[in-house]
Amino acid sequence: MKTFHQPFSIILVLVSALSFSEPVFCQPTLKESFQEKFLVGAALSRARITGWDSSENTLLEQQFNTITPGNSMKWERIHPQPGKYNFKVADQFVALGEKHDLHLVAHTLIWHNQTPRWVFLDSDGNLTTRDTLLMRMQNHIHTIMGRYKGEIQSWDVVNEAINDDGTMRKSLWFQIIGEDYIEKAFQFAHEADPDAELIYNDFSLTGRTKREGTVRLVQSLQSKGIRIDAIGMQGHYDITSPQLKELEASIVSFSELGVKVMITELDVSVLPWPDLPPGAEVSSRFKYRPELDPYQDGLPDSVQIKLAERYASLFRVFVKHSDKITRVTFWGVDDGTSWKNNFPVRGRTDYALLFDREYQPKPAFDAVIQTVHTE
Ligand code: GLA
Repeated sequence: MKTFHQPFSIILVLVSALSFSEPVFCQPTLKESFQEKFLVGAALSRARITGWDSSENTLLEQQFNTITPGNSMKWERIHPQPGKYNFKVADQFVALGEKHDLHLVAHTLIWHNQTPRWVFLDSDGNLTTRDTLLMRMQNHIHTIMGRYKGEIQSWDVVNEAINDDGTMRKSLWFQIIGEDYIEKAFQFAHEADPDAELIYNDFSLTGRTKREGTVRLVQSLQSKGIRIDAIGMQGHYDITSPQLKELEASIVSFSELGVKVMITELDVSVLPWPDLPPGAEVSSRFKYRPELDPYQDGLPDSVQIKLAERYASLFRVFVKHSDKITRVTFWGVDDGTSWKNNFPVRGRTDYALLFDREYQPKPAFDAVIQTVHTE
């Protein structure tokens, strides 16, 4: 794909060649294009945060103004054993953000996945008590948020607490503490850093029943005077799902609650979803079959165009509602490292992001940039 179309293109090509073929953009970047609308971000892997792979960091500086650690701040990574915290990568994440003056979003304090078993158990291996679990939750939140107070501006406080039918997920948090575990988590987070922006984050929030359940949850927190600033709508989408009218309905309903709306974890899969309706429940796994992996040798132009059109239609909705949306974060930077290559089937070749496996912008990138002019 051509990336150079300005008079300086020849000079840029030479400079680019001399500087180890790092991507050079003379077209508008994501962060510049949407500057007046919302922040544009990316989730970063541990390798990218710690600088093992610097190629994506060039894109990072050029394209994004906010970052989220993909895995490095999940409980199992940052607090693997009782009383033992591992802040190394999170510290590097903060340093990277400060170096490039980026808005930092931490992900995630309380979740049912990627949380070690010991959190929920007593010394005999039985489920622990409500009081002990609340104490562990409070220590965890206070320790981590306390360390990064004033440095990390936004926090995913609770991740994925609601089922598709709008009922509360019966996670171990729910079973042991009870329904008020969510309000406790938000209370502890607010105490730990009163200036932090506090987010409830979940997938499939475009479905009617899940949207209604989320509205009930937020209203219940608000009726108790508990601070919640935003709803993060995970955007693990594909070419046809969700419908744009469902997406808009959720953005509008959430914003009517008086909270900010954020599109988090955005990616658009081009691969067939096996059997069940698409979602992002990380425990869903399916066996590899070649027919589920049709684009191993490259993406046909026709599908590339469909992907670009789909991204454009999503961004037209985001731009239309940019008075409600404060941030759009992609779940990754380039196709090569996207989790969609391994979810919900391991070992496939997906094309879910705006940059290809050589970190070059795809037609979807241009299509997204164009939407800023189509209000
Ligand atoms: C969920 C979580 C993310 C991540 C993705 C898969 O959406 O919120 O942290 O695990 O699944 O990468």
